[in-house]
Amino acid sequence: MTSAPLIDPFARPVSYLRLSVTDRCDFRCVYCMAENMTFLPKKELLSLEELDRLCSRFIALGVRKLRITGGEPLVRRDIMTFFRAMSRHLDSGALEELTLTTNGSQLERFAGDLAACGVKRINVSLDTLDAEKFTEVTRWGRLPQVLRGLEAAQKAGMRIKLNAVALKGFNEDELFSMTQWCAAQDMDLTWIEVMPMGDLGNEDRLDQYWSLKDLRAQLESRYRVTDLAERSGGPARYLRLEETGQKIGLITPMSHNFCESCNRVRLTCTGQLYMCLGQEDMADLRKPLRDHPDSDAALEAAIRAAIQLKPKGHDFDYSRQRADGQMSRHMSHTGG
Ligand code: 5AD
Ligand code: SF4
Repeated sequence: MTSAPLIDPFARPVSYLRLSVTDRCDFRCVYCMAENMTFLPKKELLSLEELDRLCSRFIALGVRKLRITGGEPLVRRDIMTFFRAMSRHLDSGALEELTLTTNGSQLERFAGDLAACGVKRINVSLDTLDAEKFTEVTRWGRLPQVLRGLEAAQKAGMRIKLNAVALKGFNEDELFSMTQWCAAQDMDLTWIEVMPMGDLGNEDRLDQYWSLKDLRAQLESRYRVTDLAERSGGPARYLRLEETGQKIGLITPMSHNFCESCNRVRLTCTGQLYMCLGQEDMADLRKPLRDHPDSDAALEAAIRAAIQLKPKGHDFDYSRQRADGQMSRHMSHTGG
């Protein structure tokens, strides 16, 4: 099969695929899920074999970085089979990076296997280092379990980036303690502005928007802060704290247009391809995948057609969101 690389209409190569392997999670973070979630029936989900076929096709088309997300990717049954399968693309050199975003709950169990599959860096979502607050925000999570997971991941040789959702009146007071803890542990830290994700019926104490502009100003009250020019092709901006040399990431999905340098697409666990986090436009890849079990031609055509719909930066289109400004899609479905 001829495989010219995927280039969108604005000449951006699509080199980064984020794949959600499950909508399930063993936590119920208040900004992400309701306590009693209904999850997708199994037949809706792509099988591990289907996920392999899809990813392998994307890799043949020029994807160099693959991030596995969820829900919580490590609660998907037999997920290590899938990681082992993807590691063959690292071995061949077709794939540059295989990584994941996890809540850390299963890392104690899987860190060694992940490292053996060639996973070198992982993102762990962690909003607080206070055990009580951790259970408050995750509802079902236990902090010591996650801390043991982080330790196991570092022992296995993986580099860790913590992603903390910035919540006013919740973890605002931990800005400096988390910064210092990450420096001591040699972990990177990125703050994410909370996005309004539908009515989850949450207590308003955890519902408050803490702008990263304010977070930055707080950092400046204690550190010399330098903006770094580097971008990762995604929504993160970075600054350096000169006193510690730490690089701090800031992700402001609501307040910044970050599509201009965007190199990524997102695939849900049901095979829907989203070209842009800020738009509802998607393409169904499950149908061409399932209708043609023996050939990837229809699948490849569907991928190419979808990439032609990838919007330009300034097209960030709020009108496609719900009237109340909220995305009707959950992060646990599109994978953050
Ligand atoms: N706003 C910001 N980040 C969110 N995440 C989930 N829901 C939201 C939201 N409403 C993030 C988690 C984690 C990843 C799964 O998505 O913190 O980093
Ligand atoms: Fe699970 Fe992550 Fe959502 Fe929390 S934010 S419920 S850990 S998927």
